[in-house]
Amino acid sequence: MLLRLPGVYPPQEDTWLLAEALAAENLGPGSRVLDICTGAGALSLRAASAGAGSVTAVDISRRALATTWINARLRRLSIRVVYGDLTSPVRDQRFDVVVSNPPYVPAHDDVLPTRGIERAWDAGVDGRMLLDRICVQAPGVLAASGILLIAQSALSGVEKTQAMLEEQGLSVEIVARAEIPFGRVLSARAALFEARGLIAVGQRTEEIVVLRAVRSHVEVNT
Ligand SMILES: C[S@@+](CC[C@H](N)C(=O)[O-])C[C@H]1O[C@@H](n2cnc3c(N)ncnc32)[C@H](O)[C@@H]1O
Repeated sequence: MLLRLPGVYPPQEDTWLLAEALAAENLGPGSRVLDICTGAGALSLRAASAGAGSVTAVDISRRALATTWINARLRRLSIRVVYGDLTSPVRDQRFDVVVSNPPYVPAHDDVLPTRGIERAWDAGVDGRMLLDRICVQAPGVLAASGILLIAQSALSGVEKTQAMLEEQGLSVEIVARAEIPFGRVLSARAALFEARGLIAVGQRTEEIVVLRAVRSHVEVNT
């Protein structure tokens, strides 16, 4: 059971799908894990309790970071909480596993909220305002054979995430998928999504996907 301050994203299906993918990775005592967009810290806690050597949790919400810090202390786990925008505060560091469940819900416009719980899901008209930036930034903080695990909705362009990461020299595969019913936020936007052709008329489920990206090793023949 996680403690959660008001205004912090409650871990849910996307969190747990990503947590399962994270559990499949090698999180030994030498591993360095970065959790971008940590929220209540569920993924950081999983990594720390699985034995990761170090866990760094980044969020732009101070309440989220306070929540993560408290949850770690309650479990006597060591998690470094860092305030900031995506990878900016850790751009000089390298990580073996980078995990992220960022905001990815298509919104009415491209104005990102600067406060409130909406900041946990609103991601611009195409739902990609954070995803695109993570695809550009995350490879830069990966160690040589580092792994990136990222969750998103099929409503916000899985192929684009894959293509952007491949352009950066990563090999990408989809390691988990789940079809889940619309929650409150998506239900309220169903007509908007229908009008944009993002969903079929009457559709009230979305597919959540977890992508796993690793650096490709190019063999040079001499
Ligand atoms: C969907 S929630 C995910 C929370 C948690 N990782 C989980 O899976 O339950 C997204 C989180 O991203 C944070 N966030 C939004 N924009 C951010 C940014 N530019 N940099 C860092 N964190 C951001 C929000 O505050 C929120 O906590």
